[in-house]
Amino acid sequence: MVSFILNDAMIACAEPEGTVLLDIIRYKQHLPGTKIGCREGDCGACTVLVGELKGDRVEYRSMTSCLLALANVHGKHIVTVEGLNMDTLSPVQQAMVDESGTQCGFCTPGFVVSLSGCCLSKETVTQDLATRAIDGNICRCTGYKSIERAAGIIADQLKKKDAKDPIGWSVKNGFLPTYFSGIAERLSKLSRDLRSGGLAGLVRSEPPARYNERLIAGGTDLYVQKHDTMHRSLLRSVFNDDALKGIRIAGDECIIGGSCTANDLLASKELVAHFPNLENQLLLVSSTPIRNMGTLAGNFVNASPIGDLTIFFLALDSTIVLEDRTGGKLPAQGNRRSMLKELYKGYKNLDRSPGEILTSVGFKLPTKSTRFNFEKVSKRTYLDIASVNSAIRLELNGDVIREAHVSAGGVAPIPKYLANTSTFLVGKTISNETVRAAIQVINDEIAPISDVRGTAEYKRLLLRQLFFAHFLELFPEKFTLKELVA
Ligand SMILES: Cc1cc2nc3c(=O)[nH]c(=O)nc-3n(C[C@H](O)[C@H](O)[C@H](O)COP(=O)(O)OP(=O)(O)OC[C@H]3O[C@@H](n4cnc5c(N)ncnc54)[C@H](O)[C@@H]3O)c2cc1C
Ligand code: FES
Ligand code: FES
Repeated sequence: MVSFILNDAMIACAEPEGTVLLDIIRYKQHLPGTKIGCREGDCGACTVLVGELKGDRVEYRSMTSCLLALANVHGKHIVTVEGLNMDTLSPVQQAMVDESGTQCGFCTPGFVVSLSGCCLSKETVTQDLATRAIDGNICRCTGYKSIERAAGIIADQLKKKDAKDPIGWSVKNGFLPTYFSGIAERLSKLSRDLRSGGLAGLVRSEPPARYNERLIAGGTDLYVQKHDTMHRSLLRSVFNDDALKGIRIAGDECIIGGSCTANDLLASKELVAHFPNLENQLLLVSSTPIRNMGTLAGNFVNASPIGDLTIFFLALDSTIVLEDRTGGKLPAQGNRRSMLKELYKGYKNLDRSPGEILTSVGFKLPTKSTRFNFEKVSKRTYLDIASVNSAIRLELNGDVIREAHVSAGGVAPIPKYLANTSTFLVGKTISNETVRAAIQVINDEIAPISDVRGTAEYKRLLLRQLFFAHFLELFPEKFTLKELVA
């Protein structure tokens, strides 16, 4: 049994845990405001807000309910567009009307839900942030400018929001219905009841038998790839597993839980301090709701040759911890540490047994002598998967490269750690000659194929350009594009 609060109502669902929340909302709870567009996380018509108790406050994140397993919403607060309705239009709804941000209306609930997330967050909302909140919502009618204007109005109105108590402020100022004020207390009670098993009918059953269960985290790859079978699958979800959460800095090492998402990385002040460009780099990965769901471990184990997070962490020369949970329950039977680059043996062929859970990823923090960069080329700048992507980490001794790690996606059957190129760079001086000579090594090391994202030749050219881009970005004082391509 999965228990959660849906808008203002307590819900207990006996449906299989692989059922997506979208189907529960529409077909069991008969709330048709949440729309079905693509069922692949692309359009945002099914967006809901998912509230989770953190200490004594509730933190909300937008997610696409078409990819959200019932297993992943246990003990949470789910907000659909109906849960935002009041006697009169909310300021978000009003701004959409005033700016003609809606035409056929199909996408509108998704936009309203995403924008209403700004009322619930403790962040200071700027026009930029409000626009970013809707980066996972697609509209085929309005042309976006009117919706962007509506987002601007909301950002303006939320300037006075109390960062310490955004929900209280938003309720008091008519942005949210009054029941939001009581959600923290209700979630806390729900969590106590579920822990003590004291709420008859709402207690979640034991995890299913292990022989045919499917391991899931955010589900953003699994539901797209195995849409038809996921609903009936027995699931073991690690999405809310606290042991796989958190970002910890220990000495010169950073350890990140396997179930952390891209937006968890962005929310870490320490990580952002070590990677000043992290925001620009991670905004190239999917969209806000998918960045709230897709996990690092999911990206690594999915083993797509163009997985952005995989390419990012390969260049950090990361280690991973794989924990054997074939016993079905914690405590673990054992665990082993290995290099992320050792995980990939061939196309979707991993050095990992089916019972092993990737619990964490670790890497050495950048120092003053470190240079790191990530680049991605796709057909669209945002909300698109890469044609080719690449990352680089260099450790410098003055002008000389002491250590190098280069990775590239879309140029081999696996997310590729460019071992030969990395070795070649060590001991070399940062110069045009070094970069051009390294390109030769890269070309011998990769084996792109022609597919929908481009011909093999085009991908070689793209990687060359991305390799140039690394050096232009990291050493703007030393390089010009003109000299590099000469
Ligand atoms: C609309 C959309 C846009 C996307 N855009 C991008 C993009 O720009 N860049 C990009 O790289 N990806 C993109 N993706 C793909 C996806 O979001 C990422 O790969 C994501 O990181 C997958 O994580 P997940 O938690 O959702 O994985 P899941 O779907 O839950 O799982 C994927 C695989 O990993 C396994 N797994 C999950 N957790 C663990 C664990 N802890 N240990 C062992 N195995 C585990 C699962 O069993 C499964 O085999 C996009 C997806 C969608 C739907
Ligand atoms: S239906 Fe399109 S994102 Fe869910
Ligand atoms: S108003 Fe028609 S899809 Fe957006």
